Amino acid sequence: MEKRKLVIAMVGLPASGKSTVSSKLKQCLGAEGVAVEVFNNGDVRREVCQDSDTTCSDFYAPEYEQGVAIREKIALINLERAAAYLAGKGDVAVLDATNVSRKRRQTIKEYLRDYPVFFVECVNPDPELVEASISRKAAMPDFAHMTREAAQESFRERIRYYERIYQPLGDEENFVVLDTLHNRIERERVQGVLPYYRILRDLLVSDWVRNLYVVRHGETAFNLEMRIGGDSDLTARGLVQAQSLAWHFRETPLPYVFTSTKKRTQQMASMICDGRNDCRVIRLPEFDEIDAGICESMTYDRIAQDMPQVHEARTRDKYNYVYPGGEGYGTLKERVERGVKKALYLSGNAEHILIVGHQAVNRMILSHFLYRRTEDVPYIYIPQDRYFHIVSTHSRKVFELVKFMG
Ligand code: F6P
Repeated sequence: MEKRKLVIAMVGLPASGKSTVSSKLKQCLGAEGVAVEVFNNGDVRREVCQDSDTTCSDFYAPEYEQGVAIREKIALINLERAAAYLAGKGDVAVLDATNVSRKRRQTIKEYLRDYPVFFVECVNPDPELVEASISRKAAMPDFAHMTREAAQESFRERIRYYERIYQPLGDEENFVVLDTLHNRIERERVQGVLPYYRILRDLLVSDWVRNLYVVRHGETAFNLEMRIGGDSDLTARGLVQAQSLAWHFRETPLPYVFTSTKKRTQQMASMICDGRNDCRVIRLPEFDEIDAGICESMTYDRIAQDMPQVHEARTRDKYNYVYPGGEGYGTLKERVERGVKKALYLSGNAEHILIVGHQAVNRMILSHFLYRRTEDVPYIYIPQDRYFHIVSTHSRKVFELVKFMG
């Protein structure tokens, strides 16, 4: 690996995914033997200011001179630290801050003029996700002195202040504009030879999953009767499966557990998180089981008997078949993919993430990470006593089925 010095300066509104991308860059370049450090302005702010002063949205108002001066000072502290790092053993300094004004970006370039600067602008195109991200941020210790609603509103107001001074990238020599939800590069310009560019370019567009566990809910009353859909509870056996899974993960930190909105996945998640304070359960409707339309709550036998045309058409082409008034695997794909992106985005590069899903949904999740011909996806085996462990980083790919009960 080439060993040249580089500054990576993030650009973007609060809650646009900058810190997640920064930590991904650090992990990936670090694994390649590159000395990389992230300099986060929020961390310095917490060092030098009282939380209660800087969680108040007006601190970020462009016309509040004192706030502007403090924030400039914070940026300068990080520039000094980054300069010292690069002058010493450091290869890459990542400046994790909003850097939304051209003036600030000019300061970065001037201050670190001995090194090339690569700007990475993060854009989150999904208002619903921005909201979800705001509610996650509002739950952080910074906002502990405020009510949840006040904290969220303060954060929204902060974003609005930054929007007023936002100047998208354009004139800079080296930059990419990244859609952080879809890991898609929207615009880019690179002049000359930028150190680490090939690895960075690849990394920015890759899913980055350190440990994702995909499990199906335990047995339900409907499962016993071979009924599809519905919203039934776990059976006694299902509860034992949930307990066994909880035991299996007892020593694994699980900061994020994603479920559908159905009772069976939530019962499973609450067993797993019971008695732990490191667990946050997030319900995503994107992970709800395939909607069987007019066949909801029927048994497979009853469908075959009373609606032979449905049974035959589905058997003929299970992937493309769409239940009347409901969904099919093909139409489910987009929704579940969105759920996966959302879960990865919300969990912000957490080391361990668990998804408690359903049979059809889990098939779609798995096929997001492991190629399967579409016609084979609806037949992926999804047991209730095992989970899939998935790792997908730049240097490591794992896809294994792990048994969690005897
Ligand atoms: O039977 C359980 C279940 O989750 C149903 O709710 C759902 O309709 C079905 O599995 C999906 O599996 P398949 O596509 O194989 O019918």
